[in-house]
This record gives sequence, C-alpha cells and structure tokens, in this order.
Amino acid sequence: MDQRQVFDVLVIGSGAAGLAVALNVADHAKVAVLSKDTLDSGSTRWAQGGIAAVLDDEDSVQAHVDDTLNAGAGLCNHTAVEHTVKNSRAAIDWLIEQQVQFSKGEDNQYHLTKEGGHSHRRIIHASDATGVAVSQALISQAQQHPNISLFEKRMALDVITCEKFKMPGKGVMGAYVLNDNTGHVETFRARTVVIASGGASKAYLYTSNPDGTSGDGIAMAWRAGCRVANMEFNQFHPTCLYHPQAKSFLITEAVRGEGGHLLLPNGERFMHKFDERGELAPRDIVARAIDHEMKRLGADCLYLDISHKDKAFIVEHFPTIYERCLHYGIDITKQPIPIVPAAHYTCGGIVTDDSGRTDIPNLYAVGESAHTGLHGANRLASNSLLECIVYGQSAARHILDVIKQKLDVPFAPDWDESKVTDSDEDVVVSHNWDELRRFMWDYVGIVRTDKRLLRAQHRVELLRQEISEFYSYHKVSSDLLELRNLVEVAELIIRCAILRKESRGLHYSLSHPDLLPVAYDTVLTP
Ligand code: FAD
Ligand code: SIN
Repeated sequence: MDQRQVFDVLVIGSGAAGLAVALNVADHAKVAVLSKDTLDSGSTRWAQGGIAAVLDDEDSVQAHVDDTLNAGAGLCNHTAVEHTVKNSRAAIDWLIEQQVQFSKGEDNQYHLTKEGGHSHRRIIHASDATGVAVSQALISQAQQHPNISLFEKRMALDVITCEKFKMPGKGVMGAYVLNDNTGHVETFRARTVVIASGGASKAYLYTSNPDGTSGDGIAMAWRAGCRVANMEFNQFHPTCLYHPQAKSFLITEAVRGEGGHLLLPNGERFMHKFDERGELAPRDIVARAIDHEMKRLGADCLYLDISHKDKAFIVEHFPTIYERCLHYGIDITKQPIPIVPAAHYTCGGIVTDDSGRTDIPNLYAVGESAHTGLHGANRLASNSLLECIVYGQSAARHILDVIKQKLDVPFAPDWDESKVTDSDEDVVVSHNWDELRRFMWDYVGIVRTDKRLLRAQHRVELLRQEISEFYSYHKVSSDLLELRNLVEVAELIIRCAILRKESRGLHYSLSHPDLLPVAYDTVLTP
C-alpha cells in the first residue's frame, strides 16, 4: 500500500460489524476494509438462527432487556443492554434497507422464531441461513460504494500507534498488514482504525466457527495497550453436528425453538432434570447438561430430534440443515441428529464504551472482538448480530465526528524484514496449534477446576515463549500470525478464568461451584 494514501477509516474485518461501520460512514469518508481471507470468511456468513429484535406488538423492550439480563447472570452492563435493545428495530430496518431478505410467513409478515432464554418469538431470520443473507447483502452494498475499498487476503498483524513509534500526535495511526498474495507486509495509514475481526473460538479443539476466528483483533489491541475483559466467558453451543466428516457444522437453536427434543442414546429426554425450561433453557445450562450426560454415560454424542414434526415443516424451516445432514446420511425428518457441544462465541473482548471506543484514541472495536458489556456472563441467543449492527452504527456516528477534524497522520516506519529468515520448521507452527487447542478444550472447557487451569497456564507460558522466539527470527506467514494471536488470547482466557473464584454463567468451576453475592468483571490491563 502506498503510504501517501491516508484513509479516514481502516476497518479490520468484513463481517457484519465491520461492514456496518463501513457502510454507515462511507458517504462522508474514505474507507478501507480488510479481510484476511475472502470477504465472507468470518462467522457472520455461518449464522443460522437469526437476529433478536423487538418487532412483535406483544413483545416489549423491557422483556428483551430482562431476557438478556437473565442470560447474562448478573454481569451485563445495563446501559449497553438498553442501548442495544432500544435500537434493535432500527437495526433491522437498516438491514432491510440494505436488501437483506428475511423470511416471511403465510400472512406476508416477517416470521419470528424462538430460541433458548427468550420469553417471546423475536428472532427475525432468513430461513436457517440468516448469515448468508446478511453477509451477501452487506458485501454487495460495500462493493457498490465508491468510497469503500475492499481488500481480500490482507491480514492485519498489529495496529500502529504514535506512542509506540514516538511520533507526533496521539493514538492510532494505521496498521501493518500482511498481503497474503505477495507475502509482504504493507503499511496502511488511517485517521481511525476499527477492529471488527471477530471472536477467538478457534482457541478450542472443537468449535462451530470457521477457520480464522483466532482472536487477532483482541490480541492486537492487547499488545497495543487496550484493556481486555471477561475472556473466561466462552460460550459453548450445545448442538453441533457429530460426524467424522462434518467440520464445525451447527444445528441451530431454532430447532429446539420449534419443538426439537434432546435425547440420550436410549431415546430418553433428560433436559427437564436440569432446568424447568427443558430444551429452551439458556445455552450454558443446555451445554453443561449435555456435557454432564455424555461424561456420565461415556457417550461420544447425544441426539437432537425434530422428526416428530411434519416433513414439509422441517424442510421449509431448516433447508440447509436438512440438506447438509442428508449429505452425511442422516434424514432429520426420520431420525435424530447426533450432536455435541462446541466452542461458539467469545463473550469477553476489548473493553469499549457505547460508541465502540477503546482505551487508545481513535481505535474502535465492534462486534465479537469487543466487550461492550451486553452479554455479561452468557450471551442470549441471536443477540450477537444485533450487537454488530447497533454498535457498528454507534461507532460510525462517533467516527464521523472525529474525522471532521482532518487530523494529520504521521508516516510510519516500514516493516523491517532485514533480520528474519524464511522458516524451515513449519511443523513447529502446526504442532503448537494442535497442542494449544487440545489443552484449551481439556483444561479450560465447559467444566473447569483450579488444577486444570493452572496446568493450562503452565503450558500456555511455555508455548508463548517458543512462539515468540520463532516469531522474532522468521518471516511472518498467516499461520504463524494466527498462532501468535491464539496463544495470546488463550493466555487471556486462562488468566481471566483463574481470577474468577465462583461459577457464573458460562464459567463453571468445580473448585468454586457457588455464585458470589457481588458480580464483578475480570478486567486485564496490559
Ligand atoms: P466475523 O463475522 O467473524 O468477521 C470477522 C472478519 O474479520 C472476517 O472478515 C475476517 O476475515 C476478518 N479478520 C479476522 N482477523 C483479521 C486480521 N488479522 N486481519 C484482517 N482481517 C481479519 N449470532 C447471532 O446473532 N445469530 C445467529 O443466528 C448466529 N448463528 C451463528 C452460527 C454460527 C455457526 C456461528 C459460528 C456464529 C453464529 N452467531 C450468531 C454469532 C455471530 O455470527 C458472530 O458473533 C458475528 O457474525 C460476528 O461478526 P463480526 O463481524 O464481529 O466478525
Ligand atoms: C443458532 O442458530 O443456534 C445460533 C444463534 C446464536 O449463536 O446466536
């Protein structure tokens, strides 16, 4: 990238959050949007269930707020919850303006489905492939906007701050970006930078997330000096397809919302033993119940059954899941689906305010990489895409104010590759990647203990040293950068988990099974 080019806004990530920011500033700003792979490579494209919003006359802002607070187990930031829910209808209206085609019922009204923890039907969706509809519409709008430049295969490796390079001015001034087509590191200069790079569920061996959710933005912000909070709250989705060839395929919670039953291998239902809401309890409870039953029975998986519903209903509501399961020889209209829980969502992240501002001037974080306080100790289903849009719009409003000042952006030193060599030991990267994800699953998973967390901490420290040394001597590659970020976020997760001396929401510890009377955030300061 030619350093003479200065963008008003550099957005790192082309999912719902990044594109919401880009499209809401682009009429008044020069915007660059980076994706480390293709434009639709993040989690957004994979969203199934839909987007929670107050759209039905019988529903209310208060009810959605209450459900969010209940799921969040005493740790939500009330201002963030109210801000998000009050703006939910406007967020959906904006998506409809961007040409997202949501499903309608026979009455030609938008169809609303239900998911765990929701007291009303309030999930607007595009069949069982909401993410595809959102992603395609936003990408297409961004491609048509003359002020937005989209860069694929560009992986940000660190944000550049004036402080770090002792430059005049304050705060962020751009980012170093690996161009995966050429293998060279480019410098992007910008007045404001938005981290919208998604979550960190790839830190776990089993995940519903696509490749690439390696917590890059969280690691970058941490290295640049931002606080990070509540990283111990990793949400495990209860129902991912269990099949040797099905990598990361989710079975949406809407299947339970529409009457699906969870079954033991002998066909017995069991959820009522754990929660009176049965299959529609919040997903931390459902995931833990499944984990408990699998361990008790030594079972490889449990089952989710919707086959008692009419075939036409199933195929109409869940066409993607029907097709995908059929591909693996499972006819969901006739038989139960084998399922296991898997890491799904990062509730914690970079600490931000209501405008997405981080601790560093002109650096914003939006979407799954941010910690706004909306989700508390457990995210309510389908509140994530909503947060991406609502906070994308709030950050955009703030950014428009900042860029009016037309701040000067200093030139940054070019990336120095003079002291590094090509790696001849790529096995180090792949081995460490596997080891990290496996011990995170075994020791920092659905059920934790102090002993397991300390074991994980010991291992992560060793890996960190090894990777840091490797990084210092070798040319960067996307695999090495992801591993460096993963080990960083894994350490943040473990540190937060060790600091929490209770069981709350998604963090369940056999060493501290009780809830403390006062809820506190686990905030880490660099
Ligand atoms: P993402 O959509 O993950 O996008 C991240 C972007 O950042 C990508 O473009 C990626 O290439 C880019 N990127 C990452 N690192 C770098 C880097 N270093 N440099 C440059 N670019 C980078 N939520 C709901 O509300 N409703 C649902 O129904 C729902 N279903 C889901 C189903 C599945 C299978 C999954 C995985 C998630 C689901 N979620 C759902 C969660 C939701 O999809 C995500 O939280 C949300 O899409 C995150 O959006 P985002 O824009 O923050 O990040
Ligand atoms: C799902 O469809 O079950 C996922 C919903 C979510 O993660 O919010």
